[in-house]
Amino acid sequence: MKQIAPSILSADFMNLQRDVQNLEKAGADLLHVDIMDGMFVPNMSFGPQVVTGLRPLTTLGLDVHLMVEQPERYIEQFAAAGSDLIMIHAEATQHLYRGLQMIKDAGVKAGVVINPGTPVSAIEPVLSLVDQVLVMTVNPGFGGQKFIPAMLDKVTELATYRDQHADADYTIEVDGGVNDQTIGACAKAGADVFVAGSYTFAGDLATRIATLKQAAHDAD
Ligand code: DX5
Ligand code: ZN
Repeated sequence: MKQIAPSILSADFMNLQRDVQNLEKAGADLLHVDIMDGMFVPNMSFGPQVVTGLRPLTTLGLDVHLMVEQPERYIEQFAAAGSDLIMIHAEATQHLYRGLQMIKDAGVKAGVVINPGTPVSAIEPVLSLVDQVLVMTVNPGFGGQKFIPAMLDKVTELATYRDQHADADYTIEVDGGVNDQTIGACAKAGADVFVAGSYTFAGDLATRIATLKQAAHDAD
């Protein structure tokens, strides 16, 4: 099933409760939560206390994307805060396998993320361990950037790998520049989960989410 995961990076932070509840009513499947540390990426967002605050406000799964150097330092905090899935970047840690094990040991689903410059081969050794692979379709750090079509080959490669390996059982997520024009190609390439920040919030939430779902479904 194709899932739409609006990124709350594009929400009104002073009205986060309202926006999150509106997203749930509007048909979002998951909430994508972008954590930025000002080191791994140039921008900063917020920390685990915001996840703690969000948790009782929604029944939607919290899809937590850590754009943080040495993310293993914060895994326990984000797990305790109520994350359903925690994703760490392959580029952000010397100990990717250990980091993913830490997430699983904390009782949370584990995901690995690759930047546009990182090939799928860099994460092949952990593909049997993860519940989700996130292919960045922009350089991480900011919402509202332009989709990089060359990333679609990585989505196809991950879908093929999953078909060919019985021990691989992950969803494929795309993040960055996903909108009504780009989502079809992502779905066609094999993506299952679609993060959309600026597109979702640039109009009526329910209409935007329904448009994305339809476009993903039609292309599949
Ligand atoms: C970018 C973040 C994204 C971002 C997507 O670093 O990881 O989740 O919010 O925003 P849009 O959909 O506007 O590209
Ligand atoms: Zn993200």
